[in-house]
Amino acid sequence: MPHWAAVIMAAGKGTRMKSKLPKVMHLLAGKPMLQHVIDCVRSVQIPRTMAILGHGREQVEAALDREVEIVVQEEQLGTGHAIMQVIPHCHEVDHIIVLSGDQPLIRPETLQKLMDVHRSSQAAATILTAAFANPFGLGRIIKEGDVFLRVVEEKDATAEERLIKEINTGTYCFNVAKLREALKNITPKNVQGEYYLTDVFALFHSQGDVVQTYCTEDVHEALGINSRAQLAVAEDVIRQRILTYWMEEGVTLIDPSSTFIEAGVVLKRDIVLQPFTILKGKTYIEEDAVIGPHTTLTDCTVGVGSEVSHTVGNQAIIGNHCTIGPFAYLRPGTILADKVKVGDFVEIKNSKIGVGSKIPHLSYVGDSLVGESVNIGAGTITCNYDGVNKSKTIIRDKAFIGSNTNLVAPVEIGEGAVTGAGSTIAKNVPAHTLAVERSTQRHIENWVRNKK
Ligand code: UD1
Ligand code: CA
Repeated sequence: MPHWAAVIMAAGKGTRMKSKLPKVMHLLAGKPMLQHVIDCVRSVQIPRTMAILGHGREQVEAALDREVEIVVQEEQLGTGHAIMQVIPHCHEVDHIIVLSGDQPLIRPETLQKLMDVHRSSQAAATILTAAFANPFGLGRIIKEGDVFLRVVEEKDATAEERLIKEINTGTYCFNVAKLREALKNITPKNVQGEYYLTDVFALFHSQGDVVQTYCTEDVHEALGINSRAQLAVAEDVIRQRILTYWMEEGVTLIDPSSTFIEAGVVLKRDIVLQPFTILKGKTYIEEDAVIGPHTTLTDCTVGVGSEVSHTVGNQAIIGNHCTIGPFAYLRPGTILADKVKVGDFVEIKNSKIGVGSKIPHLSYVGDSLVGESVNIGAGTITCNYDGVNKSKTIIRDKAFIGSNTNLVAPVEIGEGAVTGAGSTIAKNVPAHTLAVERSTQRHIENWVRNKK
């Protein structure tokens, strides 16, 4: 079995992005551009991945997983120069597949096809090409009939060559032994003064080696991201691919045009996503859940059959058959057991809520442990922060918290205990006890509001 490695070129600066972030670190569907390319390579089971880094390499390196080998290109003298840096790391590698970190729309099926064509034709190199209506700025594929001759860069092309629509996408397979020799013979004698990787193809042709081309139907795969406008185009393409994937997996999208699902999200069957649903990060949703409308969940888990509407959730875990919203705000550390109800204008942070408990309206529950079948009345606030420390509130099973109760933490409400509406509870309440804290109502008779 010949050995393969993938090489991702990502040393360029990306000046047109006007950003402090290296170009390849910009996100698409919540995932860095470069990571899209890495994941694509992984899904066709190429055992080694090397990334050529230069500009902003510390920032890129920090975000990459350890399995990606880093090759540093200190000065960016062109794509040919970039690949020269890789050659010393290619002992025992027979073929490399070369990609660009700024071309995140490449698909695994296309890489597979390109590698198959390369293998079966025993070519020195195989170039992924595409037919562009407007090929401006890209390298053109020069052929005589069906026979490949060379690639010419836009800036070096004649007026006639510029009319050619078949372009070089910048993704290739190479026979490493042939490439190693060819790279010794390329020079920066061209309009841009760069070492062009694309010069090796004419060398191969002139020495009688086969250069194959494989033309992809999906022109998006060739889209290189150099500007924020191109970033937005790529975002849209990736979004449509993700939406289509989940619909094929059995998820109903009422309105795909207002639904956003990031690359790291996992969904089960028979989920319904209502309009304006945004699912981000590592959100995971179980079967039969109904999410939205107008809901944003980041790194959340939602259990079977739960309904979440008009809600913002962040690192929250929602059990099975819960009802959340409208207008709930679930913050990090929220863990809801099964059959919990969280209603309108309720904020929960760093709290565990037991099975069947209800917080139907207008409450703040923070740093709390709430048991099973607890009812928390409207306007209840856990006063968990004294300006210095955060303290815990414990509410045991079947307790009933009256409306507009302030629970001054640390405090514990015993099992089956009740607090009277409007009470400020600063002392522990024993089990099965009613705690009332409010002054007696006074009546002043025959009161006239305006005495004058
Ligand atoms: C290259 C091709 C062109 C092709 C186009 C497709 C060459 C000479 N031309 O042109 O035929 O149509 O891609 O997008 O290869 N890079 C490095 N180090 C360098 C230079 C570039 O790592 O010294 C990286 C860049 O970060 C980028 C990739 O290589 O990811 C391509 O470089 P770029 O300068 O964009 O090449 P193009 O001029 O677009
Ligand atoms: Ca480019």
